[in-house]
Amino acid sequence: MSDRPRYARYSRWRLLRALVSGWNRRMQVALDISGQADVVEVPLPGKRIFVLTHPDDIRRVLLTEREKFPKSYDYDVLRQYMGDGLVTSAGERWEADRKLLHPAFSNAATQPLRPMIESEVQRVGERWRGLDTPLDPFAEMTTLTITVMGRRLLGCDLSRRADEIRHAIDTCGKQAVRRAQAPVDWVRWFRTPAERRAQRARASLRAIIDDARRNGGASERVSTLLEESGRSTEESLDQLVTLFAAGYDTTGNALAWCLYELAKNPGLQERVRAGVAGESGDEVLAALVQETLRFYPTVPGVGRVCPEGAEWDDVALPAGATLFVFFYGMHHRPDLFVDPERFWPERFLGVRRESLPRRAYVPFGAGPRICIGSHFATQELQVALGHLIPRFRLELADPAPIRPVPGISLTPSRSLRLYARPIEG
Ligand code: HEM
Repeated sequence: MSDRPRYARYSRWRLLRALVSGWNRRMQVALDISGQADVVEVPLPGKRIFVLTHPDDIRRVLLTEREKFPKSYDYDVLRQYMGDGLVTSAGERWEADRKLLHPAFSNAATQPLRPMIESEVQRVGERWRGLDTPLDPFAEMTTLTITVMGRRLLGCDLSRRADEIRHAIDTCGKQAVRRAQAPVDWVRWFRTPAERRAQRARASLRAIIDDARRNGGASERVSTLLEESGRSTEESLDQLVTLFAAGYDTTGNALAWCLYELAKNPGLQERVRAGVAGESGDEVLAALVQETLRFYPTVPGVGRVCPEGAEWDDVALPAGATLFVFFYGMHHRPDLFVDPERFWPERFLGVRRESLPRRAYVPFGAGPRICIGSHFATQELQVALGHLIPRFRLELADPAPIRPVPGISLTPSRSLRLYARPIEG
């Protein structure tokens, strides 16, 4: 299938050059590393890191041999900001929580949310109609996803607090990444100013959610499910904060990246608009969402460790190795996807769809830790795009290129501005 070597060790010299090349070039560096082989060892001092982009290896780590590969140290750091929710918990605690929350996020439970999502997207459209200046799709779409999440989790309107919520989650997320990547965890000895900011952000986020939990509507909401199950206030807050943090920018950024691609390519935008209005409108929307999450998997990768080591065919992973399962790298492999750097929703339509390498497409992960919000996110993406694309012609306000930067989510290398021009009739 592939002429990529099975294993390579990344050159120290190249790594050094990459490390000084700057924060915004992280994706190019990650692709340069992962393009060397299916399994690439990155020679960092004191750590043995392996980057994986082959579907069989990723399947082993996340599914068939998952007991050998627990979540990495990054999740311990994340727990200090998000609490012990589904993303960071393990063992019996995780199993009980996943069982409790699964029905609330199943496909069947998600379908009836369509009118609620539609009415929130409609509010966005109404505001856009009154604008004569360009808008920031990342801010717009994450405000939408925070609002939709507020309704689903807490039964209330959090749109006016969206900026505070986004800022708090972002501050905590950045500090978690900083700590996870630092060679020395200074916070263990000194509470740095960045750590104090993150702790304040964590407290304010919990206060906003707690307030909404107490005062939100009595409609069907996830917080009620947690309370009725006998979870303590602290446990419920950990779970709600986790769901917000895991769901708002992953979905909001995916929406924004899709709007960017449509604005960048007016021909594609017209094709998609005509397709959405046609008889197969739902399939065209589904293909657009799938291509968005192939091209921009907003969780670009996940970390695991290998405490006991593992032997795979011709590759040996040493005990204590850290693994980076790089979804973005796999989705952009030329031996798996035809013309991978082309944003081309049609690859997910008709007969072309049949020849796609299904195991190589995992934007929501795989195995038991697969995203619990995948139906919810897919529905929100389809409803939002299905409402906005027929009503607005999108144009870039500034043609300079913009690159995805990998972090906990996939963010833009600079701020983006688009015009959303209403389509009459
Ligand atoms: C396009 C949007 C989304 C993407 C690309 C995405 C991606 C992912 C991925 C790749 C994982 C697996 C992480 C791992 O194995 O370490 C994951 C887990 C998770 N996601 Fe999502 N997600 C999205 C939206 C959402 C939404 C809307 C929610 C909440 C409603 C959510 C909640 C979670 C939770 C709680 C987990 C942890 C599940 C567990 O370990 O049991 N995600 N997500």
